[in-house]
Amino acid sequence: MDLAQLLDDKLICVCAGSGGVGKTTTSASIAIGMAARGKRVAVLTIDPAKRLADSLGLSELGTDLKEIDPKIFEPFGLEMTGELHAAMLDPKRTFDELIERYAPDHDTYERILDNRIYKELSNAVAGSQEYMAMEKLLELHELGDFDLLVLDTPPSRNALDFLDAPTRLARFIEGRSLRVFLAPGRFGLKLAGRSGSLLFSALKRITGIDLLKDLSEFFANFADMASGFSERAQRVDALLRGSESTFLLICSPEHEPADEAIFLRRKLHEQKLPFGGAIVNKVRRDYFRARKQLDDNLSEQLEARVMENYERQRLLGRRDAEGVERLEKSLGVENVIEVPLFSDDIHGAEGLVHMIDRLFA
Ligand SMILES: Nc1ncnc2c1ncn2[C@@H]1O[C@H](COP(=O)(O)OP(=O)(O)O)[C@@H](O)[C@H]1O
Ligand SMILES: [Mg+2]
Repeated sequence: MDLAQLLDDKLICVCAGSGGVGKTTTSASIAIGMAARGKRVAVLTIDPAKRLADSLGLSELGTDLKEIDPKIFEPFGLEMTGELHAAMLDPKRTFDELIERYAPDHDTYERILDNRIYKELSNAVAGSQEYMAMEKLLELHELGDFDLLVLDTPPSRNALDFLDAPTRLARFIEGRSLRVFLAPGRFGLKLAGRSGSLLFSALKRITGIDLLKDLSEFFANFADMASGFSERAQRVDALLRGSESTFLLICSPEHEPADEAIFLRRKLHEQKLPFGGAIVNKVRRDYFRARKQLDDNLSEQLEARVMENYERQRLLGRRDAEGVERLEKSLGVENVIEVPLFSDDIHGAEGLVHMIDRLFA
């Protein structure tokens, strides 16, 4: 698979897969690699490792895009002919920004932000993190400043969480849970009813929390914005289904991440989302073959230890080779992109350049 060719006419590249396989590192590398090929690229990373963020100069930045200094890659032979911008997504803050956009006035905005229910909701609504990533993506896409947007995805427990997020949040907002609170009138709170209000007033007496007041205030303010959410969810959905988007599945050759990728591949198919290819990271191959020529001066004991280690590496290499083969078969792709397990974490420009060399080989 030729990554540069695949991404050449794409506007959006989503990197999906289970946590810990190197999604964030890969997303960054893809973005840098395409910027080196002359594109104006923006990458949205989610919760990058601190050392990685530091070395890209991202430490103090939040949801706002920042241009990465192209010079940091030069010592390692990578010339950036395009442009690279990056943001670290902070899901909580993006949710706040969303409220700001839809709130009819500043007072309402502040009231919602202060609201206890909102605080709970913005942190806890299932999928809100995923939703916020999508939200930012849509915002940047509509700005139209970039040739390519690369989206890292949150470490979902389940790949489905990510794909369904926009619709799920919209459904939640339009759905029964809210309707119940909103009916019959804005401050109606039918749910409270007789026994309900008894419960609420008991709660208030015991805890001092006026839940009912919080609830009615919250839903009264929130209701007006619900249509904005679901309309945007639909737009994200259409955008991701289009031919200008592509999904790359990131995994390792280990069983669980590979199974997740296979599962995700099926989901993409079911949901008619465009699958671009797979990247298998942290592959241990039989890289040690070249080293088999041992130094004659090694003591017998040392030689035995070296050989033992060599055999173990070979075994791991074979296991990963089988993992890669199984993936290719199950995903129905002729060749996945393979990135080796490097001897160290990838936390700086040099490591990234090594990964880019493999990705775009
Ligand atoms: N090919 C690789 N070789 C060695 N370490 C890697 C490789 N790819 C990623 N890593 C390291 O693995 C860790 C997890 O990577 P990260 O990109 O944060 O994963 P994810 O976003 O999938 O959770 C990081 O410390 C990263 O530097
Ligand atoms: Mg990550």
